[in-house]
Amino acid sequence: MMHAVKIDERQPDNRTGKEQEDSHLQLLNLEKRYGESVLAVRDLSLPVRKGELIALLGPSGCGKTTTLRMIAGLIPATAGQITVGGRDVTNLPPYRRDMGLVFQNYALFPHMTVERNVAFGLEMRKIPRDRTKEMVAKALDLVQLGHLAERRPKELSGGQQQRVALARALVIEPSILLLDEPLSNLDAKLRDQMRIEIRDIQQRLGITTVFVTHDQVEALSMCDRIAVMHKGKLAQIGTPFEVYERPRTQFVAEFVGRINKIPGTLKTDGTIDIGLQKIRCENPSTPPGPVDVMIRPHRIEISQKPFPADGANHAQGRIVRSTYIGDTLEHHIDLGGTTLQVEKATTAGPQPVTVGDTVHLRWAASDTLVFGEEE
Ligand SMILES: Nc1ncnc2c1ncn2[C@@H]1O[C@H](COP(=O)(O)OP(=O)(O)OP(=O)(O)O)[C@@H](O)[C@H]1O
Ligand SMILES: [Mg+2]
Repeated sequence: MMHAVKIDERQPDNRTGKEQEDSHLQLLNLEKRYGESVLAVRDLSLPVRKGELIALLGPSGCGKTTTLRMIAGLIPATAGQITVGGRDVTNLPPYRRDMGLVFQNYALFPHMTVERNVAFGLEMRKIPRDRTKEMVAKALDLVQLGHLAERRPKELSGGQQQRVALARALVIEPSILLLDEPLSNLDAKLRDQMRIEIRDIQQRLGITTVFVTHDQVEALSMCDRIAVMHKGKLAQIGTPFEVYERPRTQFVAEFVGRINKIPGTLKTDGTIDIGLQKIRCENPSTPPGPVDVMIRPHRIEISQKPFPADGANHAQGRIVRSTYIGDTLEHHIDLGGTTLQVEKATTAGPQPVTVGDTVHLRWAASDTLVFGEEE
Protein backbone atom coordinates (compact mmCIF):
# COMPACT_ATOMS: atom_id res chain seq x y z
CA MET A 1 0.00 0.00 0.00
CA MET A 2 2.98 2.31 0.50
CA HIS A 3 3.41 1.98 -3.22
CA ALA A 4 -0.04 3.41 -3.88
CA VAL A 5 0.55 6.31 -1.55
CA LYS A 6 3.76 7.16 -3.37
CA ILE A 7 2.05 7.26 -6.72
CA ASP A 8 -0.63 9.46 -5.22
CA GLU A 9 2.03 11.84 -4.01
CA ARG A 10 3.84 11.97 -7.29
CA GLN A 11 0.74 12.70 -9.33
CA PRO A 12 -1.63 14.59 -7.09
CA ASP A 13 -5.20 15.13 -8.13
CA ASN A 14 -5.19 18.77 -7.23
CA ARG A 15 -3.07 20.46 -9.81
CA THR A 16 -0.69 23.06 -8.49
CA GLY A 17 -0.19 26.43 -10.13
CA LYS A 18 2.99 25.13 -11.75
CA GLU A 19 1.16 22.25 -13.38
CA GLN A 20 -1.50 24.57 -14.69
CA GLU A 21 1.25 26.53 -16.40
CA ASP A 22 2.55 23.28 -17.91
CA SER A 23 -0.82 22.40 -19.32
CA HIS A 24 -1.34 22.72 -23.05
CA LEU A 25 -5.11 22.79 -23.20
CA GLN A 26 -6.89 24.28 -20.26
CA LEU A 27 -10.59 24.39 -19.44
CA LEU A 28 -11.48 26.89 -16.73
CA ASN A 29 -14.89 26.84 -15.01
CA LEU A 30 -16.49 25.86 -18.28
CA GLU A 31 -20.28 25.83 -18.39
CA LYS A 32 -22.90 25.02 -21.00
CA ARG A 33 -26.61 25.68 -20.72
CA TYR A 34 -29.06 24.59 -23.38
CA GLY A 35 -31.99 26.99 -23.06
CA GLU A 36 -33.33 27.66 -19.59
CA SER A 37 -33.56 24.22 -18.11
CA VAL A 38 -30.60 22.07 -19.20
CA LEU A 39 -27.30 22.64 -17.46
CA ALA A 40 -25.24 20.14 -19.48
CA VAL A 41 -21.77 21.09 -18.21
CA ARG A 42 -21.03 22.97 -15.01
CA ASP A 43 -17.92 24.48 -13.52
CA LEU A 44 -15.59 22.17 -15.41
CA SER A 45 -11.89 22.88 -14.91
CA LEU A 46 -9.46 20.56 -16.61
CA PRO A 47 -5.79 20.99 -17.40
CA VAL A 48 -4.48 18.77 -20.22
CA ARG A 49 -0.72 18.47 -20.49
CA LYS A 50 1.25 18.63 -23.71
CA GLY A 51 1.32 15.26 -25.45
CA GLU A 52 -1.12 13.73 -23.00
CA LEU A 53 -4.00 11.43 -23.94
CA ILE A 54 -6.83 12.21 -21.57
CA ALA A 55 -10.18 10.42 -21.48
CA LEU A 56 -13.48 12.14 -20.77
CA LEU A 57 -15.31 9.20 -19.25
CA GLY A 58 -18.89 9.10 -18.05
CA PRO A 59 -22.36 7.67 -18.64
CA SER A 60 -24.68 8.73 -21.43
CA GLY A 61 -25.85 12.32 -21.06
CA CYS A 62 -23.15 13.44 -18.58
CA GLY A 63 -21.89 16.15 -20.94
CA LYS A 64 -18.92 14.60 -22.75
CA THR A 65 -19.87 15.55 -26.29
CA THR A 66 -20.97 18.98 -25.14
CA THR A 67 -17.54 19.51 -23.58
CA LEU A 68 -15.72 18.32 -26.69
CA ARG A 69 -17.81 20.55 -28.93
CA MET A 70 -17.04 23.55 -26.77
CA ILE A 71 -13.32 22.76 -26.98
CA ALA A 72 -13.59 22.48 -30.77
CA GLY A 73 -15.59 25.71 -30.98
CA LEU A 74 -18.64 24.08 -32.57
CA ILE A 75 -20.87 25.38 -29.79
CA PRO A 76 -20.27 28.41 -27.56
CA ALA A 77 -19.68 28.03 -23.83
CA THR A 78 -22.16 29.92 -21.67
CA ALA A 79 -19.45 30.65 -19.10
CA GLY A 80 -15.78 29.91 -18.50
CA GLN A 81 -12.67 29.92 -20.59
CA ILE A 82 -10.63 27.65 -22.88
CA THR A 83 -6.94 28.30 -23.43
CA VAL A 84 -4.37 26.61 -25.65
CA GLY A 85 -0.74 27.20 -24.78
CA GLY A 86 -1.88 30.06 -22.57
CA ARG A 87 -3.81 31.75 -25.40
CA ASP A 88 -7.52 32.36 -24.89
CA VAL A 89 -9.42 30.60 -27.69
CA THR A 90 -12.87 30.74 -26.08
CA ASN A 91 -14.32 32.99 -28.75
CA LEU A 92 -12.34 31.81 -31.77
CA PRO A 93 -14.13 30.00 -34.63
CA PRO A 94 -13.26 26.29 -35.04
CA TYR A 95 -10.92 26.76 -38.01
CA ARG A 96 -8.71 29.10 -35.99
CA ARG A 97 -8.26 26.71 -33.06
CA ASP A 98 -5.81 24.33 -34.70
CA MET A 99 -7.69 21.21 -33.59
CA GLY A 100 -8.51 17.99 -35.41
CA LEU A 101 -11.87 16.40 -34.64
CA VAL A 102 -13.17 12.86 -35.18
CA PHE A 103 -16.92 12.37 -34.74
CA GLN A 104 -18.57 9.23 -33.52
CA ASN A 105 -20.25 8.59 -36.89
CA TYR A 106 -17.08 9.49 -38.91
CA ALA A 107 -19.06 12.04 -41.00
CA LEU A 108 -17.19 11.23 -44.21
CA PHE A 109 -18.34 12.69 -47.53
CA PRO A 110 -19.91 9.69 -49.29
CA HIS A 111 -19.39 10.93 -52.86
CA MET A 112 -15.69 11.70 -52.40
CA THR A 113 -12.80 9.25 -52.54
CA VAL A 114 -10.73 8.56 -49.45
CA GLU A 115 -8.04 10.86 -50.80
CA ARG A 116 -10.48 13.74 -51.41
CA ASN A 117 -12.06 13.25 -48.00
CA VAL A 118 -8.68 13.61 -46.35
CA ALA A 119 -7.64 16.51 -48.61
CA PHE A 120 -10.81 18.49 -47.89
CA GLY A 121 -9.51 20.37 -44.84
CA LEU A 122 -6.34 21.34 -46.68
CA GLU A 123 -8.28 22.59 -49.70
CA MET A 124 -10.43 24.72 -47.40
CA ARG A 125 -7.24 26.19 -46.04
CA LYS A 126 -6.01 26.90 -49.59
CA ILE A 127 -2.88 24.77 -49.23
CA PRO A 128 -1.14 24.45 -52.64
CA ARG A 129 -1.99 21.30 -54.59
CA ASP A 130 1.48 19.67 -54.48
CA ARG A 131 1.78 20.16 -50.76
CA THR A 132 -1.77 18.83 -50.26
CA LYS A 133 -0.91 15.65 -52.15
CA GLU A 134 2.16 15.14 -49.99
CA MET A 135 0.32 15.75 -46.72
CA VAL A 136 -2.59 13.48 -47.64
CA ALA A 137 -0.21 10.67 -48.60
CA LYS A 138 1.57 11.06 -45.28
CA ALA A 139 -1.67 11.01 -43.28
CA LEU A 140 -2.96 7.96 -45.16
CA ASP A 141 0.33 6.15 -44.55
CA LEU A 142 0.03 6.92 -40.86
CA VAL A 143 -3.29 5.04 -40.71
CA GLN A 144 -2.14 2.41 -43.24
CA LEU A 145 -4.66 3.27 -45.90
CA GLY A 146 -2.40 4.47 -48.70
CA HIS A 147 -3.51 1.57 -50.90
CA LEU A 148 -7.20 2.49 -50.65
CA ALA A 149 -6.92 6.18 -51.55
CA GLU A 150 -9.23 5.86 -54.59
CA ARG A 151 -12.08 4.05 -52.81
CA ARG A 152 -15.27 5.71 -51.61
CA PRO A 153 -16.42 5.41 -47.97
CA LYS A 154 -19.16 2.86 -48.76
CA GLU A 155 -16.49 0.57 -50.22
CA LEU A 156 -14.68 0.44 -46.88
CA SER A 157 -15.17 -1.50 -43.65
CA GLY A 158 -16.13 0.30 -40.44
CA GLY A 159 -12.56 0.20 -39.16
CA GLN A 160 -11.22 1.57 -42.43
CA GLN A 161 -13.76 4.40 -42.44
CA GLN A 162 -12.74 5.20 -38.90
CA ARG A 163 -9.14 5.42 -40.04
CA VAL A 164 -10.08 7.79 -42.87
CA ALA A 165 -11.76 10.03 -40.30
CA LEU A 166 -8.61 9.90 -38.19
CA ALA A 167 -6.42 10.74 -41.21
CA ARG A 168 -8.71 13.63 -42.05
CA ALA A 169 -8.34 15.02 -38.53
CA LEU A 170 -4.56 14.55 -38.49
CA VAL A 171 -3.78 15.85 -41.98
CA ILE A 172 -4.03 19.48 -40.94
CA GLU A 173 -1.30 18.74 -38.37
CA PRO A 174 -3.40 20.05 -35.51
CA SER A 175 -1.87 20.80 -32.14
CA ILE A 176 -4.80 19.10 -30.42
CA LEU A 177 -6.76 16.01 -31.40
CA LEU A 178 -10.37 15.57 -30.24
CA LEU A 179 -12.05 12.16 -30.54
CA ASP A 180 -15.72 11.56 -29.74
CA GLU A 181 -16.35 7.84 -29.11
CA PRO A 182 -14.40 6.98 -32.25
CA LEU A 183 -14.55 3.23 -31.69
CA SER A 184 -18.13 2.67 -30.62
CA ASN A 185 -19.32 1.49 -34.06
CA LEU A 186 -16.69 -1.23 -34.31
CA ASP A 187 -16.89 -4.84 -33.19
CA ALA A 188 -14.98 -5.90 -30.08
CA LYS A 189 -11.92 -7.31 -31.85
CA LEU A 190 -11.46 -4.37 -34.16
CA ARG A 191 -11.97 -2.01 -31.26
CA ASP A 192 -9.08 -3.64 -29.38
CA GLN A 193 -6.88 -3.29 -32.42
CA MET A 194 -7.85 0.33 -33.08
CA ARG A 195 -7.21 1.24 -29.45
CA ILE A 196 -3.63 0.15 -29.84
CA GLU A 197 -3.31 1.88 -33.22
CA ILE A 198 -4.72 5.19 -32.01
CA ARG A 199 -2.55 5.14 -28.89
CA ASP A 200 0.47 4.33 -31.02
CA ILE A 201 -0.16 7.17 -33.50
CA GLN A 202 -0.92 9.58 -30.67
CA GLN A 203 2.36 8.78 -28.95
CA ARG A 204 4.41 8.87 -32.14
CA LEU A 205 3.06 12.33 -32.98
CA GLY A 206 3.12 13.42 -29.34
CA ILE A 207 -0.24 15.07 -29.95
CA THR A 208 -2.32 16.36 -27.05
CA THR A 209 -5.56 14.39 -27.24
CA VAL A 210 -8.98 14.43 -25.59
CA PHE A 211 -10.77 11.11 -26.04
CA VAL A 212 -14.47 10.89 -25.21
CA THR A 213 -15.76 7.48 -24.18
CA HIS A 214 -18.33 5.83 -21.94
CA ASP A 215 -16.29 2.62 -21.97
CA GLN A 216 -14.17 2.31 -18.84
CA VAL A 217 -11.93 -0.40 -20.33
CA GLU A 218 -11.10 1.92 -23.20
CA ALA A 219 -10.29 4.76 -20.82
CA LEU A 220 -8.22 2.58 -18.48
CA SER A 221 -6.25 0.89 -21.24
CA MET A 222 -5.48 3.82 -23.55
CA CYS A 223 -5.15 6.98 -21.56
CA ASP A 224 -2.55 8.75 -19.46
CA ARG A 225 -5.26 10.22 -17.28
CA ILE A 226 -8.99 9.86 -16.95
CA ALA A 227 -11.44 12.68 -16.21
CA VAL A 228 -14.61 11.06 -14.90
CA MET A 229 -17.71 13.15 -15.51
CA HIS A 230 -20.98 12.86 -13.62
CA LYS A 231 -24.05 14.99 -14.34
CA GLY A 232 -22.04 17.68 -16.13
CA LYS A 233 -19.40 17.93 -13.43
CA LEU A 234 -15.89 16.60 -13.04
CA ALA A 235 -16.10 13.81 -10.48
CA GLN A 236 -12.39 12.92 -10.46
CA ILE A 237 -9.26 13.26 -12.52
CA GLY A 238 -6.30 10.94 -12.18
CA THR A 239 -4.25 8.16 -13.71
CA PRO A 240 -6.07 4.89 -14.43
CA PHE A 241 -4.46 3.53 -11.25
CA GLU A 242 -5.68 6.42 -9.11
CA VAL A 243 -9.20 6.38 -10.46
CA TYR A 244 -9.54 2.61 -10.08
CA GLU A 245 -7.78 2.16 -6.73
CA ARG A 246 -8.66 5.46 -5.06
CA PRO A 247 -12.06 6.51 -6.33
CA ARG A 248 -13.08 9.78 -4.71
CA THR A 249 -16.80 9.12 -4.82
CA GLN A 250 -19.21 6.22 -4.85
CA PHE A 251 -20.15 7.12 -8.38
CA VAL A 252 -16.55 6.79 -9.60
CA ALA A 253 -16.08 3.51 -7.71
CA GLU A 254 -19.16 2.03 -9.35
CA PHE A 255 -18.63 3.44 -12.82
CA VAL A 256 -14.97 2.44 -13.23
CA GLY A 257 -14.68 -1.32 -12.83
CA ARG A 258 -16.98 -3.78 -11.08
CA ILE A 259 -17.47 -3.46 -7.35
CA ASN A 260 -19.58 -4.91 -4.52
CA LYS A 261 -21.64 -2.45 -2.51
CA ILE A 262 -23.00 -3.45 0.88
CA PRO A 263 -24.51 -1.31 3.61
CA GLY A 264 -22.67 -0.97 6.91
CA THR A 265 -22.14 1.21 9.93
CA LEU A 266 -18.82 2.90 10.57
CA LYS A 267 -18.01 2.90 14.30
CA THR A 268 -15.96 5.49 16.14
CA ASP A 269 -13.15 2.93 16.59
CA GLY A 270 -12.81 2.74 12.80
CA THR A 271 -14.35 -0.73 12.40
CA ILE A 272 -17.40 -1.34 10.24
CA ASP A 273 -20.42 -3.44 11.10
CA ILE A 274 -21.84 -5.30 8.12
CA GLY A 275 -24.51 -7.33 9.85
CA LEU A 276 -23.01 -10.49 11.32
CA GLN A 277 -19.44 -9.51 10.67
CA LYS A 278 -17.13 -6.72 11.72
CA ILE A 279 -14.54 -5.55 9.23
CA ARG A 280 -11.88 -2.89 8.86
CA CYS A 281 -10.84 -0.36 6.25
CA GLU A 282 -7.84 1.97 5.98
CA ASN A 283 -8.21 5.66 6.79
CA PRO A 284 -11.94 6.14 6.33
CA SER A 285 -12.53 9.66 5.01
CA THR A 286 -16.14 9.75 6.14
CA PRO A 287 -17.49 10.32 9.69
CA PRO A 288 -18.95 7.47 11.79
CA GLY A 289 -22.50 6.47 10.85
CA PRO A 290 -24.22 4.66 7.99
CA VAL A 291 -21.88 3.96 5.07
CA ASP A 292 -21.63 1.98 1.88
CA VAL A 293 -18.77 -0.50 1.87
CA MET A 294 -17.25 -1.30 -1.51
CA ILE A 295 -14.98 -4.20 -2.42
CA ARG A 296 -13.84 -5.31 -5.87
CA PRO A 297 -14.96 -8.92 -6.57
CA HIS A 298 -11.52 -10.05 -7.73
CA ARG A 299 -9.80 -8.79 -4.59
CA ILE A 300 -11.64 -11.30 -2.38
CA GLU A 301 -10.03 -14.68 -1.73
CA ILE A 302 -12.25 -17.71 -1.32
CA SER A 303 -11.49 -21.03 0.35
CA GLN A 304 -13.22 -24.11 1.77
CA LYS A 305 -10.98 -23.99 4.83
CA PRO A 306 -10.83 -21.06 7.26
CA PHE A 307 -7.99 -18.61 6.63
CA PRO A 308 -5.46 -18.25 9.48
CA ALA A 309 -6.09 -15.28 11.75
CA ASP A 310 -4.25 -12.27 10.32
CA GLY A 311 -4.91 -8.55 10.01
CA ALA A 312 -7.18 -8.99 6.99
CA ASN A 313 -10.98 -8.97 6.80
CA HIS A 314 -12.67 -12.34 7.07
CA ALA A 315 -16.20 -13.49 6.43
CA GLN A 316 -18.08 -16.72 6.02
CA GLY A 317 -21.00 -17.47 3.74
CA ARG A 318 -22.69 -19.86 1.36
CA ILE A 319 -22.40 -19.91 -2.41
CA VAL A 320 -25.86 -19.32 -3.82
CA ARG A 321 -24.90 -18.93 -7.47
CA SER A 322 -21.86 -19.63 -9.65
CA THR A 323 -21.48 -18.44 -13.20
CA TYR A 324 -18.73 -19.81 -15.42
CA ILE A 325 -17.50 -17.24 -17.94
CA GLY A 326 -14.43 -18.93 -19.34
CA ASP A 327 -11.54 -17.12 -17.74
CA THR A 328 -13.37 -16.40 -14.50
CA LEU A 329 -16.00 -17.85 -12.19
CA GLU A 330 -18.42 -15.45 -10.56
CA HIS A 331 -19.67 -16.65 -7.19
CA HIS A 332 -22.54 -14.99 -5.35
CA ILE A 333 -22.07 -15.52 -1.66
CA ASP A 334 -24.77 -15.07 0.92
CA LEU A 335 -23.30 -13.68 4.15
CA GLY A 336 -26.63 -13.91 5.94
CA GLY A 337 -28.63 -11.01 4.59
CA THR A 338 -26.07 -9.40 2.31
CA THR A 339 -24.62 -10.91 -0.85
CA LEU A 340 -21.05 -10.52 -2.05
CA GLN A 341 -19.79 -11.23 -5.55
CA VAL A 342 -16.42 -12.93 -5.72
CA GLU A 343 -14.49 -13.45 -8.92
CA LYS A 344 -12.00 -16.29 -9.29
CA ALA A 345 -9.67 -17.18 -12.14
CA THR A 346 -10.66 -20.63 -13.45
CA THR A 347 -8.48 -23.69 -13.85
CA ALA A 348 -8.82 -26.56 -16.31
CA GLY A 349 -9.47 -29.04 -13.51
CA PRO A 350 -12.60 -29.34 -11.37
CA GLN A 351 -13.57 -26.10 -9.64
CA PRO A 352 -12.64 -26.18 -5.95
CA VAL A 353 -15.91 -24.71 -4.65
CA THR A 354 -19.43 -24.82 -5.96
CA VAL A 355 -23.06 -23.84 -5.26
CA GLY A 356 -24.23 -24.84 -1.78
CA ASP A 357 -20.72 -24.89 -0.27
CA THR A 358 -20.01 -22.96 2.89
CA VAL A 359 -16.91 -20.90 2.16
CA HIS A 360 -14.46 -18.57 3.87
CA LEU A 361 -13.58 -15.20 2.43
CA ARG A 362 -10.61 -12.94 3.00
CA TRP A 363 -9.72 -9.48 1.70
CA ALA A 364 -7.38 -6.71 2.73
CA ALA A 365 -8.46 -3.70 4.78
CA SER A 366 -6.85 -1.59 2.03
CA ASP A 367 -9.27 -3.12 -0.50
CA THR A 368 -12.21 -2.02 1.61
CA LEU A 369 -13.52 1.34 0.41
CA VAL A 370 -15.99 3.24 2.51
CA PHE A 371 -18.28 6.03 1.38
CA GLY A 372 -20.82 8.13 3.22
CA GLU A 373 -24.14 9.17 1.76
CA GLU A 374 -23.76 10.24 -1.87
CA GLU A 375 -24.40 13.94 -2.37
N1 LIG B 1 -28.88 20.81 -28.40
C1 LIG B 1 -29.30 20.45 -27.18
N2 LIG B 1 -30.39 21.02 -26.62
C2 LIG B 1 -30.79 20.68 -25.38
N3 LIG B 1 -30.19 19.75 -24.61
C3 LIG B 1 -29.11 19.15 -25.12
C4 LIG B 1 -28.60 19.45 -26.42
N4 LIG B 1 -27.52 18.68 -26.64
C5 LIG B 1 -27.37 17.93 -25.55
N5 LIG B 1 -28.31 18.21 -24.62
C6 LIG B 1 -28.42 17.60 -23.27
O1 LIG B 1 -27.23 17.88 -22.56
C7 LIG B 1 -26.83 16.76 -21.80
C8 LIG B 1 -25.42 16.34 -22.19
O2 LIG B 1 -25.43 15.85 -23.51
P1 LIG B 1 -24.13 15.30 -24.22
O3 LIG B 1 -24.44 15.02 -25.64
O4 LIG B 1 -22.99 16.21 -23.95
O5 LIG B 1 -23.91 13.93 -23.42
P2 LIG B 1 -22.83 12.78 -23.62
O6 LIG B 1 -22.09 12.64 -22.34
O7 LIG B 1 -22.02 13.02 -24.84
O8 LIG B 1 -23.75 11.48 -23.80
P3 LIG B 1 -23.58 10.19 -24.78
O9 LIG B 1 -22.64 9.25 -24.08
O10 LIG B 1 -24.98 9.64 -24.82
O11 LIG B 1 -23.09 10.67 -26.11
C9 LIG B 1 -27.88 15.70 -22.02
O12 LIG B 1 -28.80 15.76 -20.97
C10 LIG B 1 -28.54 16.10 -23.32
O13 LIG B 1 -29.87 15.70 -23.36
MG1 LIG C 1 -21.84 12.01 -26.71
